[in-house]
Amino acid sequence: MCKSGEVSFKQNADDVPVRVSVVISVLAWLALLPLISLELELELELDSMAMQRAQDGSCLHALVFVYSLCWVCSVGFVVGQTGQLSVDASSQNARKIPDKMFGIFFEEINHAGAGGLWAELVSNRGFEAGGPNTPSNIDPWVIIGNESSIIVGTDRTSCFERNPVALRMEVLCGSKGTDACPSGGVGVYNPGYWGMNIERRKVYKVTLHIRSSDAVSLSVSLTSSDGLRKLASHTITGSKKQFAKWTKIEFHLKSSQNNTNSRLQLTTSRSGVIWLDQVSVMPFDTYMGHGFRKDLASMLANLKPQFLKFPGGNYAMGNYLRNAFQWSETVGSWEERPGHFNDVWGYWTDDGLGFFEFLQLAEDLGASPVWVVNDGASQNEEVSTATIASLVKDVVDGIEFARGGPNTTWGSVRAAMGHPEPFKLDYVSIGNQECWMLYYRGNYQKFYSAIKAAYPGINVISSCDKSTISPSNPADLYDVHVYASSSDMFSRTSMFDNTPRSGPKAIVSEYAVTGDDAGKGTLVAALAEAAFLVGLEKNSDVVEMASCAPLFVNDNDRRWSPDAIVFNSWQNYGCPNYWMLHFFKDSSGAMLHPSSVQISNYDQLVASAITWQSSQDKSSHLKIKVVNFGSKAVDLNISVSGLENGIKSSGSKKTVLTSSGALDENSFQQPQKVAPVSSPIDNAMQQMGVSLGPYSLTSFDLLLEPSKLHSTM
Ligand code: AHR
Repeated sequence: MCKSGEVSFKQNADDVPVRVSVVISVLAWLALLPLISLELELELELDSMAMQRAQDGSCLHALVFVYSLCWVCSVGFVVGQTGQLSVDASSQNARKIPDKMFGIFFEEINHAGAGGLWAELVSNRGFEAGGPNTPSNIDPWVIIGNESSIIVGTDRTSCFERNPVALRMEVLCGSKGTDACPSGGVGVYNPGYWGMNIERRKVYKVTLHIRSSDAVSLSVSLTSSDGLRKLASHTITGSKKQFAKWTKIEFHLKSSQNNTNSRLQLTTSRSGVIWLDQVSVMPFDTYMGHGFRKDLASMLANLKPQFLKFPGGNYAMGNYLRNAFQWSETVGSWEERPGHFNDVWGYWTDDGLGFFEFLQLAEDLGASPVWVVNDGASQNEEVSTATIASLVKDVVDGIEFARGGPNTTWGSVRAAMGHPEPFKLDYVSIGNQECWMLYYRGNYQKFYSAIKAAYPGINVISSCDKSTISPSNPADLYDVHVYASSSDMFSRTSMFDNTPRSGPKAIVSEYAVTGDDAGKGTLVAALAEAAFLVGLEKNSDVVEMASCAPLFVNDNDRRWSPDAIVFNSWQNYGCPNYWMLHFFKDSSGAMLHPSSVQISNYDQLVASAITWQSSQDKSSHLKIKVVNFGSKAVDLNISVSGLENGIKSSGSKKTVLTSSGALDENSFQQPQKVAPVSSPIDNAMQQMGVSLGPYSLTSFDLLLEPSKLHSTM
């Protein structure tokens, strides 16, 4: 017997419960024997007792049935199955998986960007979240002091044209006398997005714009959440003349302590009127210095994503067009960006994470940007084809912003932002999922023609089904979104098996298990998605790209579950499906080999096999992935044929994603409860006996001899 996923034939711990349950079942049958003989004796009793006998007999039959059922159940849930996995690793039968097969889809949902990946610590930094009219709500800013010492409101005196609202603080108290301000002064504080994470010895860049009716003495501090403990502080001072006009102030704060729930305070004990606008606190230490929260961006980089689709989802469309993502409002200096209300997911975004930053993120991750443009539709409205021209032009301008030379109109804006080199934008998705809408196809045609005329090399993605695409309604790719229960997702392993092999390929840009057994990210959901991805690998002649949805959730504002990565202001963890994606990160551009599973009476196993080469050390690997979506352990005989270069005797490993319960999830308390565990395979061979636990994803990564790499890799 093959055991324990080790290639040597050792005792498997999984056998123990199997044997125990068999012993229990046999004992149960032995215990039943007297009852069965009693039943036989009853058969011989007098007719007068027939009624009674019949009743006793049925009771006993029922008992026997229940026992039998228990036995079947007890054995059924733990007894292993035996199966065969055959892999044809010959180069002549291999097929290359597309280079951009697995990527990520970032949507501004669940505070994924604002208060998430975008590292800005101040929420509502421009005081615009309450709308353009004043007086307006200044949430989450809070006043320090009471009406007798300070009056705080908003007016439209900002120096930023597209961003007119400013904060006005009328300080009634002073430094001494009967009107003396309370100790520590009066002013406002900003708690950030559910508390700012301030770290000891780290440096924070503070920027703010200030105007005053009098001389200024304004203390700017990072403090504990109650304001009592100062972590870092700086006082802005200046004469009345100096601040008579809007003045930009920038300085650095270095924290003396750690505090995961800090706030920014702006306080004074000097009477007069002070206006504030565009107040920012950015950590210095961000991913590649480009403003992305380092821990979260690193989690993305670790997936080796080959593309980055952005900015939505429904976020790209808006509930209403006035609230849709408009790329041109999100570029240029951050102070000039008006920000907008993300009405689909119910929160304000300052648009610090704008079009430029998305392109930058893609570049930093080594991923191809896939820009989802608004096609003239929101969730509730639609622009007709007769009036779509200005939006079409806007999208072509957006492409120029990304790809145009630094001397072009929009390319020069990008260059002024510090990126004279064009970004490699090769994919534009026309809309999100609006094919069913009245004007979609008409509008699509306009976008397609204009984009192709200006940028023939751009791949245009349609939201319509493959069957609708034709020479008169062309598309380079068509977008597919799949949301399903875990069993349904598992069965979609074969979703593309019968898709016509010619014509445009699919980008499955949103897929996820949803519903009860998805929870906030369960093991079983991750396994179902793994099986689905195995199906995509096998159908990667008709599926070009795939990404899960959604990617991020700030635990303080969960608008959609499940999500791949959970975080708060200072912590993060990957859900089981985040870890599952790691099993596929070597697949893009790898060689897919035919593989087949033979196993009787058990249809819960799917597998794939690839060979891939490490870009770092050029080592070659045969990776066999097996999803066991069922409750039974499986002893699997793996047989690899056709390998041109042998398997090295050492350096191979097995990685397993599983847990004791199919519905297990990770959490801040147990971030690694469901996470991959790797162990060396001591004696890797082309014929191996391995064991697969119930509800598991296992990868066998077999290190190949370097000398005989086949040329197709
Ligand atoms: O991923 C969450 C939402 O699901 C997306 O915004 C939308 O495109 C889909 O319906």
